[in-house]
Amino acid sequence: MKVLIIGGTGLISTGIVQALKTRGADITVFNRGQTDDRLGDVRRLRGDRSDTATFERTLAGAGPWDAAIDMICFKAEQAESTVRALDGRCGHLLFCSTVCTYGNTQTIVPTDETTPQHPHSAYGRDKVAAEQVFLRAHAEGRIPVTIFRPSHTYGPGGPVINNLGWETSFVNRLRRGLPVIVSGDGHGLWQSAYADDVGRGFAHAAGKTGCFGQAYNATADEIVTWDDYTRRTAAAIGAPEPKIVHIPTDLLLTLPPDRLQPLAEIFRYHGVYSSGKLKRDVPEFRQKTPYDEGVRRTVEWLDAHGKITPAADDDFVDRIIEQWTRLGGEFTQALK
Ligand SMILES: NC(=O)c1ccc[n+]([C@@H]2O[C@H](COP(=O)([O-])OP(=O)(O)OC[C@H]3O[C@@H](n4cnc5c(N)ncnc54)[C@H](OP(=O)(O)O)[C@@H]3O)[C@@H](O)[C@H]2O)c1
Repeated sequence: MKVLIIGGTGLISTGIVQALKTRGADITVFNRGQTDDRLGDVRRLRGDRSDTATFERTLAGAGPWDAAIDMICFKAEQAESTVRALDGRCGHLLFCSTVCTYGNTQTIVPTDETTPQHPHSAYGRDKVAAEQVFLRAHAEGRIPVTIFRPSHTYGPGGPVINNLGWETSFVNRLRRGLPVIVSGDGHGLWQSAYADDVGRGFAHAAGKTGCFGQAYNATADEIVTWDDYTRRTAAAIGAPEPKIVHIPTDLLLTLPPDRLQPLAEIFRYHGVYSSGKLKRDVPEFRQKTPYDEGVRRTVEWLDAHGKITPAADDDFVDRIIEQWTRLGGEFTQALK
């Protein structure tokens, strides 16, 4: 099977390549050659997809493909470009979308693929628009399409998230026993999937006719509260029991939005999705990597690449906790 991955060296796509190798696929990746490449023996096409004409010419010239996977499409125009490049030259096109297309505010968890999409972030809205371009190409008989919607996916090559965002100073805070913030009362629900597990889902769906025209969530089985997530992360990396400070989400969201956009758009809501449909149609997809093991490997990678910001260089969390502690004291005093 001849497979093209647009992207290919990223977090999820590295897992896809590894799993495709176990299928004996003939693999080509298209990227700029800037990201760390751990792929070994694959064919490499170099280019920037934002140079649309060259991107389309390069893909068209190197095909045909039994399957292609677009990992770096974030807009309808990019989806149109991929369709033009692959039209008539591709047996199956898989698009990496996101669960943010549902809008995160749904009240029924786990959320499955029948849930209406009402995205409230620009990211989610643009991914829905891209999905629609691909699904139209499928309906018109131009290319069989499958949509993948991963939820949060982590692994070596990416950060360890926390309930406020993705600053790696979180890891250093845990190691040093410094307080960390979890919004609300810490009972919000979360799932984090390991990149290789998600990658296996894509790789084994490629070329599978039963997946044509379908959309699939791809996430982990483990569901944790944010407090559990924080404790398990600390335990897995050998850090002391974390000092969790709960602060009301509404209060946190009155702070300047730049650092707290992930909380505003994603982490304040339950992030729990069902992968039952994908497990049914692609039985090779399942959570093989427990969170504890996955996060240990991720932190090993961050350490090896010097990517963990020291807490001393990032006082954002300290400043919030200082104000909150003072406010909490004043509040209690006022009631006495
Ligand atoms: N991680 C999550 O939690 C999560 C959840 C849901 C959905 N997703 C989706 O997952 C996808 C990201 O996949 P990933 O994790 O494999 O990717 P990634 O880690 O973001 O890496 C991006 C890949 O694309 C290449 N690339 C970036 N810009 C490029 C450009 N302009 N032209 C050509 N190549 C380019 C990079 O290589 P070079 O830098 O060398 O070009 C690299 O191979 C996105 O579509 C995202 O929406 C992620």
